[in-house]
Amino acid sequence: MDHQNRFDAYVSDIQQALDKYLPEVDVPQKKVQDAMRYSLLTPGKRIRSMLTLEFCRVSGADPSLAMPFACALEMIHCYSLVHDDLPCMDNDDFRRGLPTNHKVYGEDFAVLAGDGLLTHAFDTALKASSRLPAAQVLDGLRTLSEAAGVNGMLGGQAIDVENDGHLANLDALCHMYALKTGALIKAAGRLGCIAAGADEERVKAAELYTASVGLAFQIRDDLLDLEGDEAIGKTTYPRCVGVEEAQRKIDELTVTACRAAEHFDDPSFLVWLAKKLAGRNV
Ligand code: IPE
Ligand code: IPE
Ligand code: MG
Repeated sequence: MDHQNRFDAYVSDIQQALDKYLPEVDVPQKKVQDAMRYSLLTPGKRIRSMLTLEFCRVSGADPSLAMPFACALEMIHCYSLVHDDLPCMDNDDFRRGLPTNHKVYGEDFAVLAGDGLLTHAFDTALKASSRLPAAQVLDGLRTLSEAAGVNGMLGGQAIDVENDGHLANLDALCHMYALKTGALIKAAGRLGCIAAGADEERVKAAELYTASVGLAFQIRDDLLDLEGDEAIGKTTYPRCVGVEEAQRKIDELTVTACRAAEHFDDPSFLVWLAKKLAGRNV
């Protein structure tokens, strides 16, 4: 399978699994379920969930073993976006080319939909227990909750909000990025390894890959925002060091990620993906 075909197959498998894990059912609370499905099933890049499946595969196991963890991560990511777009946060009208959740369902239901996705993520991750030993499932649940919580994504959002996007220096900015964006991406690699029962050396290599790709991903986002004239006035990586140095940093992080991928059986897709993300335009 060539790399683009593998990428497309992962996106399609993830889409189907998300639909299955959050089915449409006729219940009185249908509106919140519709709001959850609206944001979850709109086509995102599925990078985090894809990394989970791929790290499971390159650790020598069937990637479908990691699907409950992968979908749980995608649900947590989606909840973070629904809440991030709210008027009290970034007040955005569009996400993934469509009106944001609160624009369609109202602010009250966007809050509930986000809460619902976060909770449903843990229900979904637990489904891994039909095929994985309890210790691995517990490790997965711990990884998800740490990555999502106050010392992970939510902590990063809190730093961003408290500082109104104005971080004191590059170190403070990178710390915020490591939590806000990095924590879930790093968890993606770890979750794939956990599902495959990989050893500690591989877990560490996966974390190095995903931490590097995660920071590169966020710096690339900053460069795209700069081109699109977004995030005016916010501290961003290229605003701290210049566009050229930001691009150099992305390249350096990508080299680190590609080296880390060599710890796995068949790393060429991971290498291709790191390079693809480093040059992404969406
Ligand atoms: C958006 O993440 C928020 C950031 C962390 C930059 P993605 O760019 O992965 O968003 P989707 O899931 O593809 O919409
Ligand atoms: C999105 O962050 C939410 C999280 C990463 C948790 P941003 O505000 O930086 O990204 P966009 O521009 O809304 O996608
Ligand atoms: Mg935002």
